[in-house]
Amino acid sequence: MTHRCVLALCLLPLICLPGCGGDNNSRTDEPAQPPPISATEAYCGSDYLEIEERIDTLLGELSLEEEVSLMHGAGFVPTESGHLASALPERGIPGFLMVDGPRGLDNQTGLPATAFPVGMARAATWDPELEHRVGQVMGAEVRAAGASVLLAPTMNILYHPRWGRAQETYGEDPYLMGAMAVAFVQGVQQENVLASAKHFVANSIEDTRFTVDVQMDERTLREIYLPAFRRVVQEGQVASVMTAYNSVNGAFSSENEHLLRDILKGEWEFQGFVESDWVFGTHDTVAAASAGLDIEMPAPKVYGPPLVEAVQSGEVSRDMVDLGARRILRAQFCFGLDTDPPVRDPSKVATAGHTRVAREVAQRAIVLLKNTGTLPIDRSTTMKIAVLGDLADAENLGDTGSSRVLPVYVVTALQGITAAADGLVTVTHIASTNLSQEDRASVADADVAIVVTGLTSEDEGEGLISAGDRKGLGLRPEQDALIEAVAATGTPTIVVLEGGSAITMNPWLDSVDAVLMAWYPGIEGGNAIADILFGEVAPSGRLPISFPRAEADLQPFDNVSDTVAYGYFHGYRHLQHEGTAPLFPFGFGLTYTSFAYSDLVLSSTRVAAGDTITVQLDVENTGATDAIETVQLYTGAVSSPVIRAPRELKAFTQVALSAGVKKTVSFDFPIADLAYYDVESGGWVVEPTDYRLEVGSSSGDLPLSAVVTVDGP
Ligand code: BGC
Repeated sequence: MTHRCVLALCLLPLICLPGCGGDNNSRTDEPAQPPPISATEAYCGSDYLEIEERIDTLLGELSLEEEVSLMHGAGFVPTESGHLASALPERGIPGFLMVDGPRGLDNQTGLPATAFPVGMARAATWDPELEHRVGQVMGAEVRAAGASVLLAPTMNILYHPRWGRAQETYGEDPYLMGAMAVAFVQGVQQENVLASAKHFVANSIEDTRFTVDVQMDERTLREIYLPAFRRVVQEGQVASVMTAYNSVNGAFSSENEHLLRDILKGEWEFQGFVESDWVFGTHDTVAAASAGLDIEMPAPKVYGPPLVEAVQSGEVSRDMVDLGARRILRAQFCFGLDTDPPVRDPSKVATAGHTRVAREVAQRAIVLLKNTGTLPIDRSTTMKIAVLGDLADAENLGDTGSSRVLPVYVVTALQGITAAADGLVTVTHIASTNLSQEDRASVADADVAIVVTGLTSEDEGEGLISAGDRKGLGLRPEQDALIEAVAATGTPTIVVLEGGSAITMNPWLDSVDAVLMAWYPGIEGGNAIADILFGEVAPSGRLPISFPRAEADLQPFDNVSDTVAYGYFHGYRHLQHEGTAPLFPFGFGLTYTSFAYSDLVLSSTRVAAGDTITVQLDVENTGATDAIETVQLYTGAVSSPVIRAPRELKAFTQVALSAGVKKTVSFDFPIADLAYYDVESGGWVVEPTDYRLEVGSSSGDLPLSAVVTVDGP
């Protein structure tokens, strides 16, 4: 324990965790995640020493110009296998070939590929094992395109649902984000493809993304925006990190010494390389090189000749260039890009096995938000279904920006429903979105009406090259009007929504019978929607974000100012702190059965900061349908001089339960996970006080709770 911790102890009092303190040479450990013993070995594997020696030899031979040439991309126009960077073939250095993106193989490869449900949809599965398989499939397709680096996952905390690229990320919560991102990265890298965690950090506004300065205090940065990145570095061993366009607390991300040098490469001991975001991500040669930007993409602007000159004039040390080149070579050699390079083989893209995974994910991602009993549709009693809505027969895969995938095929909702009706049920498609008398009569005559509507790439997407940020949280007036008109016929109405984040639905929610959130569900989306509607699969998706009743309930979204301030509270933390009820809470999702929670037992209720306790409980499927339940554990400090969120997700697990079956679920819970980041001491502290542990099926439904007392020293 350092002197600064002891001082803090006297003042608050606080309990310091190992590594807490201001010694620049020591690591600042975060809760319950011990760093790897040898970061280079963990990154590279057992032959890391030989590789480092080989790099030593190479660095002794390369000229300054050659080393600097490794530190930028080869040009603005990508090859069919991606953007080339860091190659010196005559020296045995193959370079990287980089492709997007977060929902599947980059369309610029020209290969028809498996377009998966977007990241937000996959976060709604709350299933890291499934996300690991998605990573493997994407990795395999990237390699089969002849590429070596996948520019994914997007892992920016969703500060506000109007962010244009909300669909790419894993939601609003750091814990869920970390679990999904680690699983994805490990899956991708198992295929010998390098993942690139992006965008480091706080890139969650599109319209001002190139210029905005996102300001936040150090505690908010450490507790909300950094933990998932730390996990992909230390647990996932992510090969590379892409900086954000925006600046953070006054310094552009690609020049941010605090983020890149002190935290990422210093405290977290990241061994891979840092690359800039494309074209507009770099600004100043000396600032970027000094902060630790290793590769400028996609072409030299501030690197290349200006970097050579900066070294020659002494503004940048040769050591800095050596360090950058070392990281670049390490990544290439550790991933065997020289000995086992990727080979383009289109026959390995979009295989039947891959598209099966896309269907499974789409099924698991759909969130049932409301159901008065209309779902699942019973094919033996339902004779006629009317299908309506602007997206019923649309190929709606998401943004047309950098995450665009050329889909091998797309199953629309109408196609999926028609196939699932299997000739037993008559499916009538009413294409008009402005219903005539005849259309209304046809809807009134149906047993069930399904309206498929929501957002498209015209409503949200990447800034400059696509739609940018959303204008609001509701549907368009004509979409609301169609749902209202359908419901007014008296026919039971099911609304299937698509889109990348929260949608408000006040005008019609009370008058419809069921609502599904299907996100952008990928190439198999139509089949997956039908699987859920007809009960082939019981819904298991859970919201990875809060759905507010109205935009005014959230903290403001500012996509016009040059400077924005991100507060400590956003999403469910904000709503609960304000005492505002959401429309649907974070973690929420219904299914075709019910679950009962009981018998919460903690292995100990008086604990010390270094302890790990077992949290055990029973969950029973009390209905008649087999289904998956996502058991969620939240904590909150009962009384604390420090402002804390009322509830924070700290653990979750999934349990498949047959009808009538009860199972015991248990979590190992490290008390260190109750820590907050103490800015004064520069470390994580667990206050000696009482903490509430709550368990249930969403942040708004936690039937079990217990109190744990952390004793002082
Ligand atoms: C995006 C990145 C993307 C890159 C390359 C940028 O505009 O912000 O996410 O990886 O382009 O396509």
